[in-house]
Amino acid sequence: MKKLTIVGNFKSHKTRFDIQNWIEKFKIGFNDQFLLDTKHIVIAPPLPSLQLFSERLLSSLPGLSLGVQDISPFSAGAYTGAVCGENLEGYDVSFAIIGHSERRTYFFESDEVLGKKVTEAKKYNIEPIYCVQGLETVIPEGVSIVAYEPVFAIGSGHPDTPENADTVAKQIKQAQGVTAVLYGGSVTADNVHRFTSMEHLDGVLVGGASLDSDQFLKIIVNS
Ligand code: PGA
Repeated sequence: MKKLTIVGNFKSHKTRFDIQNWIEKFKIGFNDQFLLDTKHIVIAPPLPSLQLFSERLLSSLPGLSLGVQDISPFSAGAYTGAVCGENLEGYDVSFAIIGHSERRTYFFESDEVLGKKVTEAKKYNIEPIYCVQGLETVIPEGVSIVAYEPVFAIGSGHPDTPENADTVAKQIKQAQGVTAVLYGGSVTADNVHRFTSMEHLDGVLVGGASLDSDQFLKIIVNS
């Protein structure tokens, strides 16, 4: 049986107080060790809350993983505002979402810059989850996990069909080194299983529906 990867991407949502509530509710709701043994669960919160997650959630549910939503293309140095791999050491960060379409659109990130981010993440043993918008997106060398996220499906309530996502995933896996493909775009507790039951899909990347801990728990259980 494949081990699914379920990623929650909080984007730029939530105050510190909201995050504390999310963690407490998630801890109460999450009482099934079996799920941690059979699924990779990754939470990518806003950077300032990494420590809260590390101290309050990973300490009691060590099977869970933390991710960041971005990483600097540069190593440590004079790059004001950037957060690099070295800065993340000691925060239990195992994954980095790289190349999300929102980063490409609003922060003008190019394939070249994104390739550098992959290199930087790997230098610090942070596994990239590389977002592609379709088969035309270039996948940098060294990427093992890809998230297929068609732009029309993100935050729209209109996901791609599981069949099309599966066909795309199959083709993406022909790229060298790619071993897992996740689907992202309007995933909910109701539709998640239609994606995760597809032969070539290995999990999901969830935005909006991860913001509510009950919904995210349902997605984990239903996947
Ligand atoms: P969504 O976002 O689940 O809200 O559609 C997915 C994503 O942007 O990763």
